Amino acid sequence: MKAFSLKSNNLNGTVRCPGDKSISQRSVIIGSLLNEDIKLDGFLFAEDPLSTLNALLRLGKDIQIINEEIILIKNSKKNNPTGKAICDLGNSGTGLRLLSGLIAGEGINAELSGDESLLKRPMNRIIKPLNEMGANIVSNNGCAPLHFSESELVEEFSYEMPIASAQLKSCLLLAAISSKMNLSLYEDSISRDHTERMLKYFGANIQTEKIDNGQKIILKSDGKLEPKDYSIVGDFSSASFLIIAALITKKSQILIRNVGMNETRSSLINILKRMGANIQIRNKKICCGEEVADIEVFSSDLVGIEIDKKDIPKIIDEIPILSIAASFADGKTLITGASELRFKESDRLNAIEKGLDKIGIGYDSFKDGLLIDGNRNHDLIEDIYIESFGDHRIAMSFLIAGLRLSAKINVDDCKNIDTSFPNFFDIFLSIGAKIEKI
Ligand code: S3P
Repeated sequence: MKAFSLKSNNLNGTVRCPGDKSISQRSVIIGSLLNEDIKLDGFLFAEDPLSTLNALLRLGKDIQIINEEIILIKNSKKNNPTGKAICDLGNSGTGLRLLSGLIAGEGINAELSGDESLLKRPMNRIIKPLNEMGANIVSNNGCAPLHFSESELVEEFSYEMPIASAQLKSCLLLAAISSKMNLSLYEDSISRDHTERMLKYFGANIQTEKIDNGQKIILKSDGKLEPKDYSIVGDFSSASFLIIAALITKKSQILIRNVGMNETRSSLINILKRMGANIQIRNKKICCGEEVADIEVFSSDLVGIEIDKKDIPKIIDEIPILSIAASFADGKTLITGASELRFKESDRLNAIEKGLDKIGIGYDSFKDGLLIDGNRNHDLIEDIYIESFGDHRIAMSFLIAGLRLSAKINVDDCKNIDTSFPNFFDIFLSIGAKIEKI
């Protein structure tokens, strides 16, 4: 197995943020529900969005890749799938859970499966409410493969979500919109809201009302969706790797253009600013219902802080890289309320602990978080190997930790980076990092 490491004395330059993975996946799914052809630009050509796109083709949708910038969804001539559609979602939890909503709503025969990691992830969170809505789903003990057979969903449904999960919320919204159901949902903490925003952009009758830290969502599937072209903004979660790389690498200054700044995704900026980060936000605009901006980052001396549990759903994918910032910050950083990390592409709390052990950073671990004992002067003099646990965000996080240390951090199995950030190494090369492969 090949291992990679990153090194740099300073990072400098301007880069364009790659397209948002969550929004890319939603754009092809929701785009295929319209009645006319539409164009998408900024789609992320990475493994996860592509496995969602391929699954939609198997479900009979007509989606054409025009070039690396434009995707055309041909809605004017609709094809119904013949027989059972067999779809492989690879590593993508978002693809599998969101498409489950669409398939249940359309009442079609399908099988959804994925790679070894995806087959271990919990699916009862979607199966239970979808079956209560009237779907026919059979699972392998609460895990994929999921088998869907023909069904018709109820006309009205109301659900209080037991966990704040954007994948669960989006699955149910897609089941409702594609079966013309009226849906009322409640989540006690607001998870990323790209689905709500995109449905609103395409003219759906969807209202949201903030209640304390959470929200109520009312979707009335009475009208028609309005076909329009859609531009996908840059992925804040991918930008977070660049942001923290520049913060912890001495004498660095980088500008990341076109980063999605939706407030349910970008709380990491406020957290890093509380840690002492010098980050400037420029050119804020709205693009297809999503905020977007350029982010300038300067190397900074960070301090440890306590992270509020209520912020966790908004930084859920950034916790691995935030743990690296905390490792090189003076003082302790407390992260709690993050037990959902145990059910991601790997058990991310365990993967972070194993990596910190190897680097020699002190920590206490809990069922739902970590207390990291950071040190700005921490160094490592002998090269080490770190396991990615097959998880793209763990691989990228520990590659970036290597930028701060004298010795090399060799990260095994970096192939999975292609699921979300295929030009990760090219972007780091362009801002002055050296990449070694052994
Ligand atoms: C995602 C939602 C998040 C996130 C995942 C992508 C989405 O999961 O971790 O990488 O696109 O809806 P939750 O379902 O835990 O919010």
